Amino acid sequence: MTPSASVTVRGVRRGDRPWLVAVGLDPEKIGRQYHWAETPLQLWCAPARALPSRRRPAAIIEVDGRRAGYVGANPLSGNLEYFLQPWARGRGAGPVAIAAFLAGHRHGDRARRFVVSHANARSLAALRRAFELLGWREGSDYRMVVGRGSTSVWVRPEASSSTA
Ligand SMILES: CC(C)(COP(=O)(O)OP(=O)(O)OC[C@H]1O[C@@H](n2cnc3c(N)ncnc32)[C@H](O)[C@@H]1OP(=O)(O)O)[C@@H](O)C(=O)NCCC(=O)NCCS
Repeated sequence: MTPSASVTVRGVRRGDRPWLVAVGLDPEKIGRQYHWAETPLQLWCAPARALPSRRRPAAIIEVDGRRAGYVGANPLSGNLEYFLQPWARGRGAGPVAIAAFLAGHRHGDRARRFVVSHANARSLAALRRAFELLGWREGSDYRMVVGRGSTSVWVRPEASSSTA
């Protein structure tokens, strides 16, 4: 899909915190962003996501100049995660944002994984498109491990010299 939105990925600012908490607690994400059984954990995750951490790469996604989503490590599991608010979905912004995050916001980060439910084909398609945008190769830059209910998509460590 050719993106029809203008996408910016930038570091998390203090002023993003209330927004990150609010969207992190939005029940719309149940069954999309996380399994329903993980719902109580969001009471911890949503505020923790909004706190700064040097060891946890994190970024805000802006679409058409408006705060639209998050991409970064989950504060509980350390796995990478991403979401866009419903209004920003379906225009190719997700893959562009994921690619920009992987290319420029993981300075010196270790290998990490995305965990994508088999029920979320769109998310896996978005990741594949992001890798394509980056010119990444399966086997060297990323690898996919298919599990019972989800696919673990491992991405390589990032050199500390990467730039935004
Ligand atoms: C997943 C998400 C980030 C994708 O970003 P997006 O900008 O909405 O992505 P788009 O729908 O525009 O396109 C992504 C790809 O998915 C494909 N796609 C869209 N809907 C799909 C569906 N129902 N099934 C399979 N593929 C689908 C698109 O065709 C596109 O692939 P292409 O580039 O090969 O054509 C976004 O939809 C989102 O935030 N969803 C809710 C939260 C979530 O699921 N997070 C991930 C948890 S693992």
